[in-house]
Amino acid sequence: MAEKNFYVTTPIFYPNANLHLGHAYVTTLTDVIARYHRLVGDTTYFLTGSDENTQKILSAAADAGVTPQQFLDDKVEGFENLFKQLNISYDQFIRTSDEKVHWPGAVALWKKLDAAGDLYKKQYEGLYCVGHEAFITEKDLVDGACPDHGTAPERIQEENYFFKLSKYTQTIKTKIESGELCIIPESRRHEILSLLAEGLQDVSFSRPRTPMSVGIPVPGDTTQVMYVWCDALSNYITALGYGQDETLYKTFWPANVHIIGKDILRFHAAMWPAMLLSAGEPLPKSILVHAMILSGGRKMSKTLGNIIDPQELLQEYGTDAVRYFLARHISPFEDGDITREHFKDAYNADLANGLGNLVARIMQLAQTHLSAPVELEYKPFPKEYTDAFERFEINKAADHVWGRIQALDQKITEMAPFKVVKEDEEKGRGIIIELVVELACIDQMLEPIMPQTSKKIIDAIMTNKKPENLFPRKE
Ligand code: MSP
Repeated sequence: MAEKNFYVTTPIFYPNANLHLGHAYVTTLTDVIARYHRLVGDTTYFLTGSDENTQKILSAAADAGVTPQQFLDDKVEGFENLFKQLNISYDQFIRTSDEKVHWPGAVALWKKLDAAGDLYKKQYEGLYCVGHEAFITEKDLVDGACPDHGTAPERIQEENYFFKLSKYTQTIKTKIESGELCIIPESRRHEILSLLAEGLQDVSFSRPRTPMSVGIPVPGDTTQVMYVWCDALSNYITALGYGQDETLYKTFWPANVHIIGKDILRFHAAMWPAMLLSAGEPLPKSILVHAMILSGGRKMSKTLGNIIDPQELLQEYGTDAVRYFLARHISPFEDGDITREHFKDAYNADLANGLGNLVARIMQLAQTHLSAPVELEYKPFPKEYTDAFERFEINKAADHVWGRIQALDQKITEMAPFKVVKEDEEKGRGIIIELVVELACIDQMLEPIMPQTSKKIIDAIMTNKKPENLFPRKE
């Protein structure tokens, strides 16, 4: 199996509200991938964090009646708690308000763009949507409001620094076409290629600094702060010490994969590569673009009131059941609805009746008929499983594991060790050992998806004891 360095990132989350199931999804997806790479021996670095230099915080903090700093600290604590409950094994949590960790690298990158002659000042007028943290156009509006956020954009007229994004259109296009920058899946690769075919426009990269503005001051110009996306994207390298102590940067950059939702594709597949090209830094190897989790057929939003709180599911079903559902029952590449009924059905069928029941059957037999724990030998992962992971199709990897679970269940029924052992003890024991060995193989493949369950199963095998009921049925 390949042993290499593997650097994987989630987007950094806006701390203007609590995280919902969509955010839990991208983080869990990333965690499963990171755990798989650790398991196959790769030196893995997993980065997540919060995108804090955003105007959204100011109004959210004012509404909550606390200072912006208090508001941020509170929300970020909530993020970290949620990640703990989801058993997310990140190596670093970066906060873009961190003046020591993040700001020096963001400033260093800005200076590189400037030195390349890619920043220029321009008077600009446009419609700014704070929800998007981006300028939008008249034709994007529905009844004068941004359709995604339901709010009217601000008409802004100001002098900004502009970044020469247009200059890099062709180079980015060539790199995506050649696969040097791999955009997954194919449909998103097409989407970004058609955007590039239209040509990229230069983009505003700073905002005037006001007593109320947030953001990193533009080096050499105290009247401006960096545009939040310019600041946010740089987190992927500032976290590694870019512009400061670059040991981690030298080890892990370029990233193997940035994992993002489809709504932020153009920032990652156009703006970010252009910034890196301008600075003379290597591009990430791939960008994995997942689809949206819908609730009742609509995008989850505070205004629609259809947000599914991951805490609710975690409390009712536990960490590994939530991880399992997100990994297997949400298609990474197609928008999919989640309902509480679907969750419960999957839990009962695949975990209570499936995995839980299988473990109980086999370990009951082993505990009753074997006098010592079965000795296990290391077996390499099957190709179907590793290939699915190499393509980042964790739902397919999970399908493979559940196929093996079903087959093993079938095998118990067919070979009837509970009967055989009464007639021919040696033969019966032989079958039980075979079952335990296959259960251990399945267990190893479960580790990235359900780490706690995987540990409980291996502990049961090593002590030759039937474990507690892993997944009690839900009525
Ligand atoms: N702060 C920016 C990202 C900057 S990365 C340099 C941002 N933050 S966000 O909090 O709004 O969204 C974070 C991630 O959550 C995005 O990848 C987004 O696609 C994802 N999701 C938000 N809602 C989602 C669903 N309903 N379903 C799946 N993912 C969703 O954008």
